[in-house]
Amino acid sequence: MYRKFYGLKENPFNVTSDPDFLYLSHTHREALNHLMYGINQKKGFIAVTGEVGSGKTTLCKALLNQIGNEIKTSLIFNSFLPESQLLEAILTDFGLTPKRRSKVVLIRQLNEFLLEQLSRGNNAVLIIDEAQNLRFTTLESIRMLSNLETNKEKLLQIVLVGQPQLQDKLDSPKLVQLKQRISVQFHLKALEKNEVHKYIEHRLHVAGSPRKLTFEPETIEPIFEFTQGIPRVINLVCDKSLLLGFVKESDHIGQNIVDQSIEEIKGRLTFAMA
Ligand SMILES: Nc1ncnc2c1ncn2[C@@H]1O[C@H](COP(=O)(O)OP(=O)(O)O)[C@@H](O)[C@H]1O
Ligand SMILES: [Mg+2]
Repeated sequence: MYRKFYGLKENPFNVTSDPDFLYLSHTHREALNHLMYGINQKKGFIAVTGEVGSGKTTLCKALLNQIGNEIKTSLIFNSFLPESQLLEAILTDFGLTPKRRSKVVLIRQLNEFLLEQLSRGNNAVLIIDEAQNLRFTTLESIRMLSNLETNKEKLLQIVLVGQPQLQDKLDSPKLVQLKQRISVQFHLKALEKNEVHKYIEHRLHVAGSPRKLTFEPETIEPIFEFTQGIPRVINLVCDKSLLLGFVKESDHIGQNIVDQSIEEIKGRLTFAMA
């Protein structure tokens, strides 16, 4: 709506998880390093947690973009799938055609694929997003997948990504065996206050923003206060602010505009909860 007015190529503050917009904050960089380490060192299980909107899905997609061809990947977004369908989805995302909807057959097919990759010097990664939704029984089956190994190394690296409830689930006595296998664990934090302005400018830049469009320095404190550094909420505030700026025909987003945006978003949240 306001794109033309500001001369933007794209909407800078969409709430989709587009990895092209990735800003490598301290916590996102650390998370990526942990993931690359766990995968390259064939550590088996890796768990990444983070609040809603902290950038987990964006991170997964960015990881896939960075990973070379010698690492085969399967990324699962639907963690509600029943077990055999989940297995089918895993195989399909690895580029295979599932042979039959029988657990045994599917696991054998996966094992053959993994051994073939090993013989070619390749590694394989399975990433499951929103893993807090996985049932206990499904998590147990996923643990079994990590048993696919040679004497020396894990054939499949498994990354569980989820909201903080994932951690509670992993702490449950029912999943002791799984928890023991998680060798790399990382909690994605919100952005620090001093990263918020850089984050906003980064997204504006990626969207092709002309230099003159700016969020004034005094807007950062209220944005941080309200959003607590959660990228998704920052996007909401900034998107609304650009809209209000457009209405006022201003490309300098100042405190008034940001305050008004925050008030409107608060109103909407209260309304939604009523
Ligand atoms: N480090 C980041 N750089 C750029 N955008 C980010 C970053 N982290 C999160 N976002 C943005 O915030 C929004 C929510 O991110 P998302 O990955 O969907 O969060 P989650 O999966 O943790 O709920 C998306 O629009 C995403 O692009
Ligand atoms: Mg997500």
